[in-house]
Amino acid sequence: MAHLFNRNVLLGVSGGIAAYKSAELVRALQDRGAQVRVIMTHGAQEFITPLTLQALSGNPVHTELLDERAELGMGHIELARWADLLLVAPATADLISRLSAGRADDLLSTVALATAAPLMLAPAMNQQMWRDQATVDNVKTLADRGVHLVGPAAGQQACGDVGPGRMEAPAAIADAAAALFATGELAGKRVIITAGPTREALDPVRYISNNSSGKMGYALAQAAVDAGATTTLVSGPVNLTAPDHTRVVSVLSAEDMLEQCLKLLPECDIFIACAAVADYRPAAVQGQKIKKGPQEMTLQLVRTPDIVATVAAAEQRPYTVGFAAETNDVLAYAREKMQRKGLDMIIANDVADPTIGFNSDENAVTVLRRDNEQALARASKNTIARQIVHLIARDV
Ligand code: C5P
Repeated sequence: MAHLFNRNVLLGVSGGIAAYKSAELVRALQDRGAQVRVIMTHGAQEFITPLTLQALSGNPVHTELLDERAELGMGHIELARWADLLLVAPATADLISRLSAGRADDLLSTVALATAAPLMLAPAMNQQMWRDQATVDNVKTLADRGVHLVGPAAGQQACGDVGPGRMEAPAAIADAAAALFATGELAGKRVIITAGPTREALDPVRYISNNSSGKMGYALAQAAVDAGATTTLVSGPVNLTAPDHTRVVSVLSAEDMLEQCLKLLPECDIFIACAAVADYRPAAVQGQKIKKGPQEMTLQLVRTPDIVATVAAAEQRPYTVGFAAETNDVLAYAREKMQRKGLDMIIANDVADPTIGFNSDENAVTVLRRDNEQALARASKNTIARQIVHLIARDV
């Protein structure tokens, strides 16, 4: 069954009688593994209190666009970036109309415009309102823009009518949300992802390493699994749990990482080098702990092998993707690196901004291919990973 582990679901609740079912929906999303935050419109609060959804979601409920306190904490832009999915349930006729017009006159509609995450709507309204040509046109506009719809179901309505317009059952909505991430785009493909830092030993207790958290590589592994790929992480030491259905090959040094990657290469269609591989290692590893001595000491370092360049130069080369973390002239350096290392795609990352990249949960990147480039707006690493996997799937 599809799941929502590691997914941030932002649940928007608008003002219809079906809002009472949102409480059950929060639970259904959590049961499938999601982290849930809730935005309520003013109308929604006439039907169910924020306190109920706060207690269930375990997070404060967001209701106001222009609220100094909210903007100090998680304001509308932070919410938009946090979300891996914006799910609106119930989506009333009014909300659907405002979304189709691109309005930004309350928190929910504003976040819908501001997020790079997919949008899914579970409409709920009287059957005649659902059938009205205005609603039909609005729904078509949204569907043409790539908005996902779940329901509505048909049957007895709260107003006594019978027909289409009942909000789909919470379990079915949560399943549809989970299925959204299971794209199958890489079904049958074998993906290897390097992730995390490497450790280059100096002696039995000391090493040279870096601050890479591995989050981007692990998010890519999740996206690859969701896309149906057989996924292997070749991972340096990190504090993360690998996604289900991922094979993890744990390594320490750059040389270990290269050795394992080359071993796996005959069974690889797509190679994604996300690891922050140390560029240098100590020329010699001391067998015993190095003793304190004079005021100064000199370490001799030698270059480590370039893993992604080695893979890209292999005879039976997979589709090869690298990353370029730069602080200046980001795109020019990335393009040069793509050519020099013989890559099919490079993900350029501006690391001058400390709030994205390395240890952060968010990222903003530009995806370069030989003949084009595409900027991916700042979003959670999960959303960025999904978009990268989608772009790779179009090429392979
Ligand atoms: O040369 P630079 O380290 O900037 O290149 C970054 C890209 O190359 C990343 O994709 C990284 O995983 C990969 N790389 C590698 N082996 C190295 C150094 C970098 O695979 N020794």
